[in-house]
Amino acid sequence: MLVTSLLNRKLANPAVLASGILGTAALLLKYVEECGAGALTTKSCNLRGREGFQNPTVVSTEHFMLNAVGLSNPGVEEEQETVRALKKKTKAPIIGSVFESAPETFAEVTSKLAEAKPDFIELDLSCPHLSKEKGFAGYGDFSSNPKAAAEVVEKVKEACKLPVFAKLSPNCASIAEVAQACEGAGADGITAINTAKGMAINAELKSPVLSNKSGGMSGPALKPIAVKCVYDVYGAVEIPIIGTGGVLNGKDAIEMMMAGASAVGIGSAVYWRGFRVFSLISEEMRAWMKENGYTSTKQLVGAAHE
Ligand SMILES: Cc1cc2nc3c(=O)[nH]c(=O)nc-3n(C[C@H](O)[C@H](O)[C@H](O)COP(=O)(O)O)c2cc1C
Repeated sequence: MLVTSLLNRKLANPAVLASGILGTAALLLKYVEECGAGALTTKSCNLRGREGFQNPTVVSTEHFMLNAVGLSNPGVEEEQETVRALKKKTKAPIIGSVFESAPETFAEVTSKLAEAKPDFIELDLSCPHLSKEKGFAGYGDFSSNPKAAAEVVEKVKEACKLPVFAKLSPNCASIAEVAQACEGAGADGITAINTAKGMAINAELKSPVLSNKSGGMSGPALKPIAVKCVYDVYGAVEIPIIGTGGVLNGKDAIEMMMAGASAVGIGSAVYWRGFRVFSLISEEMRAWMKENGYTSTKQLVGAAHE
């Protein structure tokens, strides 16, 4: 009942571990599969790795999580090893996530990660807190501009034969236009969305809480923004969508699929409900579908557009 597909790959269920939530360790990602994830996205990596920002990097309330981890990662060579190790241990499709600061280096890091043969590549075109950092001028803003996003996709597709998902940001004038530009440049799928730009202030200290001052908001408060983005993207492109943002339970996942997602990214919900959130979401989806007369996820995808 819950089987879904992304391009030519079958997923046992639509719940996909979103990028960055559980770091880069193969053992941990394998455990996420045991906890019921239908596919696994690795932490975004770049060519030479990054230390990330100083603490505090995360602040949360019951409604949202705000993070500015700063894309800390050990670099693509170590990430290749993670993907190779993971491939030996898991059946679930692996989505290798990459970022860089220019279309050419995006192509380079993708080619390197592709050597480890993940099932898909995801281009993190949309990290919200690196755009003004020195040396990363423009980075994070690729997906706020259809032309810039398309340029990255085009260069990556010239360099890599694997199917490529472009991960987009809600921080733009029209996510539908950005998605269309990516599709036109050869993207095989869209992941929507990354976090939304946000800030928390410590009133006593009269200062932003995060060391980076601002960060990316995820969790329940992001859900209506994500659903609208997925709905708009579904109306604009033919390629499949991994709908991500604020999904905590099975009903949220169903809404995301009805907006147009073929699979559903699960990120911050791991902090709210623990590792078993993946199997819990599957159980909740199954129960809701049974109660409401659905027999296949195909009936859900885009149902809210009919
Ligand atoms: C701590 C943290 C780290 C993240 N790191 C990445 C990352 O490396 N690459 C990426 O594309 N998205 C990253 N994200 C964004 C998530 O993959 C996801 O798009 C976002 O959190 C919205 O989904 P959620 O509300 O289910 O968490 C990160 C999110 C969090 C909370």
